[in-house]
Order: sequence, then structure tokens, then C-alpha cells
Amino acid sequence: MAAKQDYINEAIAFVKEQVGDFQPLVGIVLGTGLNGLLKEIEVEREILYADIPGFVEATVEFHPGKLVFGRLSGKPVVCMSGRFHYYEGHSMAQVVFPIRVMYKLGIKNLFISNAAGGMNPSFSESDLMIIQDHVALFLPENPLVGPHKEGDRFPDMSEPYDLNLIALAEQLSDRLGIENIKKGVYVSVSGPNLETRAEYRLLRMLGIDAVGMSTVPEVLMARQLNLPVFAISVITDMCIPETLKKAEIEHILAAAFKAEPQMTALFKAMVEKL
Ligand code: HPA
Repeated sequence: MAAKQDYINEAIAFVKEQVGDFQPLVGIVLGTGLNGLLKEIEVEREILYADIPGFVEATVEFHPGKLVFGRLSGKPVVCMSGRFHYYEGHSMAQVVFPIRVMYKLGIKNLFISNAAGGMNPSFSESDLMIIQDHVALFLPENPLVGPHKEGDRFPDMSEPYDLNLIALAEQLSDRLGIENIKKGVYVSVSGPNLETRAEYRLLRMLGIDAVGMSTVPEVLMARQLNLPVFAISVITDMCIPETLKKAEIEHILAAAFKAEPQMTALFKAMVEKL
């Protein structure tokens, strides 16, 4: 099988031409309904995904996907407004391509957010969950499979989420008075369907606290490149088998919007300290 062309060099050349010597230190990926952080960025430059070699069009978001370059809390950042999901039909290589681009642009930390279903009965809707660990085993494909490009061939996963960043988040959420913040294990599934009661029961038995359709591929890619990662889930709906309600996207979005200001405040405060 002929290898698919890798557009990483073209993508970097194109982006560098657009942003000049602007050097982002933090990469940020925003989840569904969690784009409010963009308003806090003093924007220097925006680049539409459609214009970047190797990027595919994001299909789920309500606005065109773009990379936003600017300052957050005075620090240079690059923020993905809209991400790629496997369920859109993209290959895992396409899903994680932007992470490779941000890495090559020189980011030193990666911050990720997502909307997730809560399976831990002590959680409530619109809680924030600091991701402490994850389960990748249910993903249909692994983004690191294939010819080795860069970083570790066999990336260690004993500490996928940076402990210093988790400690910083706990300290700052305390200071910001964010009380509805939890810690837990996230599992990524392919979607696009939500899970059955039997599946939630199974995932919960495995000690998993939240479920969603993103993040883990991006984290695997980042860890192969040795990028420190901080990730947070916003619990948008409770997934307890006995009390499960029909999932409605409007409801999920409303719960995400409700928690978004806290998530934004936390990211902003953390970036300030980096
Ligand atoms: N499963 C269940 N509920 C969710 C998900 C999911 O993948 N994402 C957001 N809410």
C-alpha cells in the first residue's frame, strides 16, 4: 500500500508564512460548546483550516474551523476553534494532524477541553472534570500506528496528564472559587452514536468516570512528542443506566455553555502561570 502523503512540512511552511515570527507557547483545543475562551484571546492572526495544507474541513462545528493565534493572559497561544473527530470519517492521522502542526510551531504545553457524559454518580451536569487518566482501548484505531515519524516509537503512558498542571489546576480552581471541579478517568469512543445502558454499565465497571468522542487520540499524539498535556471534560449529561434520559444535543450544548465560563477562567489563570 502506498503511504498517504504527509503534508506536515507544507503545513508548517504555510502557517509560518502567515504568522511571521509569532511563537505560540501553548496550544489549546476547545471542545463542543466551549469556544468562549476565544473571546479572551487578543487575536493576532486567524487561519482557516480549509487554507492549511493537510487540514481537512471540520464538519460538526457551527462556524468554520480555524487556528487562532494571539495572546491569552499575555502569553502567546495558538487555539484550535473546532477539532476533527474520527466519527466525521477522518482518519486518525487527520484527527491528530493539527497536534503535530502545533508541536512543530513550538508549543510547550497542550490544553484540551471536551464535552463528556458523566458516569460517576457523584458528578452532576456542568461539573468540570480534570482528566487524570484515560482508556484508549475502545478506540477502533490508534493514531500512532504506522510508519514512525517522530518522538517515541513506544510512548510511555504512566503519566499521560501532567501532574504539575493538574496540581496547578487544583490550586487555581480553589482560588477562583470553582467548587464543581472533579478528577477522573475519561474514555474515548468512536461515536457518533451515544452509548447504550449496557455500555455505560460496562464502562463504569471498568472504573471510568466520563465518556466522550475526542481527546484521547490528540493526547496519544502529544505524548509521543513528549508534550505535557492538561485536559478537562465538561460533564454535559449524566449517563447512569438506571436513570438515563434520551440524549439531546441542545441539552448537551446548554450544559456546556453553562460550565464554559469556569473552564475559560481556569485555562486563562493556568496559562498566566506558565
Ligand atoms: N457519550 C455520552 N454522553 C456524552 C458524550 C458521549 O460520548 N459526549 C457528550 N456527552
